[in-house]
Amino acid sequence: MPGKYKNTIDWDRFWESETVSENMLMGGRNMAGRLARFIEQYGLRRIADFGCGPGITMFILAEKYPECEFVGFDPSMPVIEKNRARAENSGLSNMRFEQDMLPRIRTNEKFDLVYCIATLHYVKDIRGAIRNLYARVNDSGFLIFNYPNRFSLHAYRNQIRPDDAENRKRFSLILNEKNLLTLKDIDSALGRCPKNFWKAVGEGPNRENNCVYVRRNAAAGAK
Ligand SMILES: C[S@@+](CC[C@H](N)C(=O)[O-])C[C@H]1O[C@@H](n2cnc3c(N)ncnc32)[C@H](O)[C@@H]1O
Repeated sequence: MPGKYKNTIDWDRFWESETVSENMLMGGRNMAGRLARFIEQYGLRRIADFGCGPGITMFILAEKYPECEFVGFDPSMPVIEKNRARAENSGLSNMRFEQDMLPRIRTNEKFDLVYCIATLHYVKDIRGAIRNLYARVNDSGFLIFNYPNRFSLHAYRNQIRPDDAENRKRFSLILNEKNLLTLKDIDSALGRCPKNFWKAVGEGPNRENNCVYVRRNAAAGAK
């Protein structure tokens, strides 16, 4: 993967030194609770996390659902190796981790649920990325992702100080308006109208951090 991380920070260096913060833990736990609703409601079995990082959500779900298979994908080998060791030490044989990268995904595997959280923010060809993620979803399966939009742009511009070089680099694609999406963009990239994930899990709207889901070839009338 030559030239990876061209438009963001060096995630290999980041994960070599990063320890999981309270914030990350809380975010991962909350997301696990939300995804559990989809897994149970639709009987989903094969589940992929793209841009999994330390896989906080995945570890919780893999323990809760031993009958399901979980695969985490990330371009950063340091975090993949840490995750592999943790899965082995925890005896979680229903999960594995592979190196892969958006927008051009190498894996041909298909899943009942593909989710991609806090990751498309670092991908320039974001339309290609969501198309390729959607291609990895089984019939009647789900793609769930959050993405940067114009509300995120305003939030990041307000929150990131001019002298905060690290975050300016990390979020440069958003700050330079290179990878902002609209719901219409998603609809035209996937040929399916995206639905609001926050609403589906009983939460209020979050325009700055919009999260959507799309179901592949759902039978007429199905949600
Ligand atoms: C902010 S972390 C999010 C981790 C995890 N999804 C979560 O919600 O806690 C972003 C992740 O995206 C990964 N990443 C960066 N560029 C990527 C790309 N082009 N394709 C896939 N993952 C990427 C990084 O290595 C990192 O693990």
